[in-house]
Amino acid sequence: MTNPDDTGVTVLGLGAMGSALATALLDAGHVTTVWNRTPDRAAGLSARGATAASAIGEAVTDHPLVIACLLDHASVHETLDPVVDRMRGSVLVNLTTTTPNEARELATWAAGHGVGYLDGAIMATPPMIGTPEASILYSGSEEVFDAVRPVLDRWATSTHDGADSGLASLFDLAMLSGMYTMFAGFLHGAAMVGSVGVSATEYAARATPFLSAMTAGFAHHAGVIDGGDYTAPGQQSLDFSDLSHIVRASEEQGVDPVPIAAVQELISKQIAEGHGAEGFARLYESLRADRADRADTADQAGRAASAASADRADRTEALR
Ligand SMILES: NC(=O)c1ccc[n+]([C@@H]2O[C@H](COP(=O)([O-])OP(=O)(O)OC[C@H]3O[C@@H](n4cnc5c(N)ncnc54)[C@H](OP(=O)(O)O)[C@@H]3O)[C@@H](O)[C@H]2O)c1
Repeated sequence: MTNPDDTGVTVLGLGAMGSALATALLDAGHVTTVWNRTPDRAAGLSARGATAASAIGEAVTDHPLVIACLLDHASVHETLDPVVDRMRGSVLVNLTTTTPNEARELATWAAGHGVGYLDGAIMATPPMIGTPEASILYSGSEEVFDAVRPVLDRWATSTHDGADSGLASLFDLAMLSGMYTMFAGFLHGAAMVGSVGVSATEYAARATPFLSAMTAGFAHHAGVIDGGDYTAPGQQSLDFSDLSHIVRASEEQGVDPVPIAAVQELISKQIAEGHGAEGFARLYESLRADRADRADTADQAGRAASAASADRADRTEALR
């Protein structure tokens, strides 16, 4: 990130993440316009050379590349619905966290207004922006991705995950699901040893190397799932994996067993269905979407998002 670049960019949303994105652009020499619902938050960036737009209409017309890093899907519509007609021919890169269907809805909405759209999911914290540790996933138009990539690469390693605009969000939320489930497991373990006075800090020092080593199991389970054979040798059986003793130990210590009890429930279900001799990765079969159901759900959610979009358009029209 060393070559100065004067490509103009507008950044909407100057919270912790939007400010980090705008700062990285300014550091790289980009001509940068910033806008925030609460204008005071632009002061620091103005001092570094950004142009602070006083109105959203001015912000989105200053440059043909607009980055949105707002709170959620609703805030993107609330901010851009009134001015989207002035963005025809521009590119909108939306780095606001949304669900996959919300991202797809935004892509359709943008296309309907002649705006190029790319959805992004930031796999980093604000201080990581502009460092090699940061990664941002993108999905949607590959043509748009290629065209704006030099700007995207200012922030992180940029990857394009496919033409479906919902994919970046799907990967993001899937990984966050794994992360939060793991954190809940960690907190449950800390509560178990905490019941006899062991500090969470001491527990963390013990748990970190163990849990880090256990992540090697991801590739093993993935191989079993993709191979589709839960009876192949080398797997720990579900009967052997029964976790009732951990649930009991938690209760004995007066600790709510809810995180581990949820895993035990999945194990018990598979055992009850006659799969006790099969491998632990079989839990995937209890979790995965049935393809027909999944298509229906996505279709229904897409229709609901479109209906909400039409409703918003009516309300925006009424405001004009
Ligand atoms: N921070 C992270 O570590 C991180 C990591 C990955 C992804 N993200 C995603 O990045 C996005 C921004 O996160 P952040 O950390 O910058 O959040 P934040 O510090 O809470 O900032 C939220 C931003 O959204 C604006 N906003 C909220 N509601 C709005 C509305 N209705 N209309 C217009 N603007 C509105 C806020 O404006 P005001 O100043 O006026 O309130 C502010 O600029 C989120 O979608 C988040 O999930 C963040």
